[in-house]
Amino acid sequence: MSKKPLILGIETSCDETAASLITENEQGLPIILSSIVSSQIDVHKEFGGVVPELAARSHIEKIDFIVQKAIEESGKEIKDIDAVASTAGPGLIVCLSVGLSFGKAFASSIEKPFIAVNHLEGHALSPKLISDLNYPYLLLLISGGHSQYLSVQGLGKYKRLGTTIDDALGEAFDKTAKLLGIEFPGGPQIEILAKKGNPEKYNLPKPIISKGGCNLSFAGLKTAVLKESKKIKTNQERFDLAASFQSTIEKILHKKTKIAFSLFEKENDLEEKKFVVAGGVAANKKIRSMLIKLCKENNYESLFPPIELCGDNAAMIAMVGLERFKLKRFDNLNHPTIPRWQLDEKANFLKGAGVKLK
Ligand code: KG4
Ligand code: ZN
Repeated sequence: MSKKPLILGIETSCDETAASLITENEQGLPIILSSIVSSQIDVHKEFGGVVPELAARSHIEKIDFIVQKAIEESGKEIKDIDAVASTAGPGLIVCLSVGLSFGKAFASSIEKPFIAVNHLEGHALSPKLISDLNYPYLLLLISGGHSQYLSVQGLGKYKRLGTTIDDALGEAFDKTAKLLGIEFPGGPQIEILAKKGNPEKYNLPKPIISKGGCNLSFAGLKTAVLKESKKIKTNQERFDLAASFQSTIEKILHKKTKIAFSLFEKENDLEEKKFVVAGGVAANKKIRSMLIKLCKENNYESLFPPIELCGDNAAMIAMVGLERFKLKRFDNLNHPTIPRWQLDEKANFLKGAGVKLK
């Protein structure tokens, strides 16, 4: 039996310090041996958002311990590791530097290859950790930092079909939560409040709903929530505003996902149509059930990675490392941090929306 690759993944692009070891079975399917994620929510709570310098300091304090824990839990030893993969971007430069430097030093000390990973590529390949998923597939990535529709055609081959032209969806949830007096990160709380409210009470705007292809925009919606939140007098009104906000998001994603389906079908010669949703907002049950229904109606197989693989984690970074290792596509130890790094560089200006993209 040949030795299967053992990859150490490291992730510190924002406010999660994460390390993971993965390998694969005889059939070549990935196996997660350990995946440790240490969140910094308590560090940033009082500031209502992530403070880069505090996040970086916390990564520095924890990275040693988290990597050690991931190795211990995997049941493997340092000498068994075949390559080290670290997130190099996009993200907060001071945070990225911690995991990238640590990964390079670790790889160098054990004299094994180093792989610099695009965080978005990690999210894009995360469903491969739990299912035998073949390319191509359509991915909707909805997190605190990103909102994109991507045609995933193969390792390193991505076409961005649409993206947000202002706020990310998770950011819109968190900002709405803040306006409703909920602590950071309030996204999950909006879902809970919305259960008690009337989704038809407020008629909120759906920015660029009829233009810009499957590009997304949430800034105007946030401004409308701000205006309405100032008039709120009762708890019931808070619930109604949360429910109306969430239902507006559902309507936007319903329309834009249908457009993404047709763009994806135009781009690819498809035998099977597959739709994957990843990122923290994919945990939202109302959004999930709406998208599952939409997939059924349009003959798409839908796939939602488990919640722990939807949010930021290092197993997805190791997953990219594993695929790159098998192709012997390694990086030099002078690889830079890349705070702004799109998967599809050509898509920096999308016609139709008429706006420069983030
Ligand atoms: O992917 P993730 O864990 O980290 C980033 O890369 O940003 O996503 C975090 C985001 C936050 O904005 C959080 O409020 C949002 O995902 N989120 C939710 C829910 N759970 C997490 N938003 C809406 N409904 C949820 N249930
Ligand atoms: Zn992320």
